[in-house]
Amino acid sequence: MSVTLSHQIGERRPAGTENVVLEVHNLKVYYTTPTGDVRAVDDVSFEIREGEIVGLVGESGCGKTTTAMAILRLVQSPGRIVGGQILLDGQDLVRLNERELREIRWTRISLIPQGAMNSLNPVMRIKDQIGDAIETHEGRLPRKELQERILKLLAMVGLPSRVYHMYPHELSGGMKQRVCIAMAIVLNPTLVIADEPTSALDVVVQRVVGETLLEVKNRLGVSMILIGHDMGLMAQLVDRIAVMYAGRLVELSDVYSLFKEPLHPYTQLLIESIPSIKERKPLKLTEGLTHDLRNPPPGCIFQLRCPHVTDKCREVVPPLLEVQPHRRVACHLYYDV
Ligand SMILES: Nc1ncnc2c1ncn2[C@@H]1O[C@H](COP(=O)(O)OP(=O)(O)OP(=O)(O)O)[C@@H](O)[C@H]1O
Ligand SMILES: [Mg+2]
Repeated sequence: MSVTLSHQIGERRPAGTENVVLEVHNLKVYYTTPTGDVRAVDDVSFEIREGEIVGLVGESGCGKTTTAMAILRLVQSPGRIVGGQILLDGQDLVRLNERELREIRWTRISLIPQGAMNSLNPVMRIKDQIGDAIETHEGRLPRKELQERILKLLAMVGLPSRVYHMYPHELSGGMKQRVCIAMAIVLNPTLVIADEPTSALDVVVQRVVGETLLEVKNRLGVSMILIGHDMGLMAQLVDRIAVMYAGRLVELSDVYSLFKEPLHPYTQLLIESIPSIKERKPLKLTEGLTHDLRNPPPGCIFQLRCPHVTDKCREVVPPLLEVQPHRRVACHLYYDV
């Protein structure tokens, strides 16, 4: 395999990180359409521990952004949370009203939205955009104090102080993305959700932005959910990986074990698809298509593409179960339930 794991398991931060900051239980988010409900997130459960980065991967349309938006209670109509719990330090976000949610967003959970760098205000200097984010939550601050806070944030994400006076169009894509990271940490949240923060950047800049996220995590001790497609980048950055397929979580594992021995047939396909110059091989494609999310088949969600499909897979939904220490998979190959 061409991917190197930058922080192998033995070298990681010691696992004094068992404190769970966020628990998602049986989350279901559906989009209502004239032809039926799209089950974008279907019975998804996972947890995020203190100070860890969890990568959320899966092909386009599998429900990654919807999961992120649900955690922040920002799912837009016609989408709605139809079931489940989202516990932040034990408090269920699904039950909170808009005023209570406003107190949590940014201060305790912040989001770097998909395509964030393109939504920076083009006619505002960086200092004003970051300053606004701070003052919206903390009220008016003395100018000197605000300036110091902003300069400290810019330094934290590896940006030179001259960026303070600049406009977004004067910055490269990577610099803009680092401004977005700075804006996500202005209020020192417990959890940062970064939705594809490195897509649309070239590979070198992707690495720089990735390293910035890692640096921020290590210095602030925040937990992160990092959404993306790039398995190579995930291998470099995250502690655990959650693999989604068609609205369901099919595998959740520490990153090292997942790359060494992927369990779910879909994860195996993802890992095998990582290109390698050493070993040029034809892309292994399984036949069949992803089913319509409005009308999932009974049984396993991956049955149409799975090379190991059996009758049981067509009848019984495989639950996500721990099959090895710290490894959960939703596949009948690994248990008999
Ligand atoms: N407003 C909507 N109405 C109907 N279906 C929607 C709507 N928004 C999203 N969906 C569907 O929900 C599913 C999940 O979408 P989502 O954006 O969460 O996927 P994603 O994994 O983030 O994809 P990508 O990698 O392309 O960003 C998709 O099948 C999508 O078509
Ligand atoms: Mg998305």
